[in-house]
Amino acid sequence: MSVALAAVAALGLAACGSGNSSDSSGDASAGSTGAYTPKEGGAGGDVGVFTWWAEGSEKKGLDALVSEFEKQYPNDKFVNLAVAGGAGSNAKAKLASDLANGNPPGSFQGHAGAELTDYILADPPQIEPVNDVINALGGEKVFPKDLLDRLTVDGNIYSVPSNIHRANVVWANPKVLDKAGISETPKDIKGWIADMDKVKKSGVNTPLSIGGTWTQVQLFETVLMADLGAEKYAGLFDGSTKWDSEEVKTAVNDFKTLLTYTNKASDGDDWPDATNMVIDGKAAYNVMGDWAVAEFEAKGAKDGEDYVYFPVPGTDGVFDFLADSFTLPKGAPNPDGTKDWLMLVGSADGQKAFNLAKGSIPARTDVPADDFPKYQQSAMESFKSDTIASSIAHGAAAPLAWTDDISKATAKFYSTKDADGFLKDLTAAADKNVVK
Ligand code: GAL
Repeated sequence: MSVALAAVAALGLAACGSGNSSDSSGDASAGSTGAYTPKEGGAGGDVGVFTWWAEGSEKKGLDALVSEFEKQYPNDKFVNLAVAGGAGSNAKAKLASDLANGNPPGSFQGHAGAELTDYILADPPQIEPVNDVINALGGEKVFPKDLLDRLTVDGNIYSVPSNIHRANVVWANPKVLDKAGISETPKDIKGWIADMDKVKKSGVNTPLSIGGTWTQVQLFETVLMADLGAEKYAGLFDGSTKWDSEEVKTAVNDFKTLLTYTNKASDGDDWPDATNMVIDGKAAYNVMGDWAVAEFEAKGAKDGEDYVYFPVPGTDGVFDFLADSFTLPKGAPNPDGTKDWLMLVGSADGQKAFNLAKGSIPARTDVPADDFPKYQQSAMESFKSDTIASSIAHGAAAPLAWTDDISKATAKFYSTKDADGFLKDLTAAADKNVVK
């Protein structure tokens, strides 16, 4: 069975125990029913935490977590191991080599879903179950079951979610749209492309801003969702939708057309440059995860005046989902210190502080919505009522190797614009990664 299928098969297997014996060993069998009890003030010692939240608004999010950690676990010392680069574009390679060399951090950021299964199903496994921490935090009483399912393999939960982000959001500059005579949100990709022509005619050369490859993968996944619908999109990852189907061809061609309205991007271009183009009026639109809203707020931009937002046309009612979540690596230098960190990440106080600063919504369901600004309140509503679709660019849909193949195919397409070649590469990537 491929890793992807194993991940899919794992959905629905969450077995959140409800025992109350104390366990801090991080051992799978013992951890499945016990509940972790942290030492008052923390276990003591260093807790090295590996993320890619190294700069700007993302660092502010991490800082908010760290200051709560220092308050609640004063005996522990947080050590920041962040590696810059949005979506882990640099961090993931460094992490892979640290894990392979037996040099794991205290905890690392991973994406809920297929990406996490890479670490779980590695031989030997690279992360430990944390059922005892999840139990101590309240398990299914405080985390959505769907989300816990995405963190579970063979009945064990392997990480503590900090947040949920939405990736299919268009951020737009209302003044630029006004000048182009656009007053309505387009219903589908075709309508959106027509609006981009209006933007161009109004004198703005870059209707749609983009960054490096992962931002293009993210844009492409939203076009796939728009053109296939959520159900067929999900089928791309279990083999039930073919990558050489007519709908995927349409999506590839739409993506190709969208790229004719963008700035030129190099692979290393990070996302804030692309979102800034919208705020600065140099672009009308950018498709970015809702970490963008934190960047806008940090710059003093105002919701409704300086930026507006809507789901990528054709994806209304679909929530392109990703969640960050923190792990206990096998052989972590100070496992009890790591568990203090995980307890903080999963606590209501930690989630409120972090998500207010990060633009995401709490993974917990018991953090009051009223405490959050307008955008996040709307994301909370959508998460409750929309169809959930898994992000490719942010590890929810496919394991690392497959995502990597899709990224390479996208980078190649960006330079060749060869739609047939792109379809062939995408189909080959699926053939390699899904066992039929
Ligand atoms: C995602 C991550 C988000 C945000 C984004 C941009 O992969 O889950 O929390 O950091 O990358 O860097």
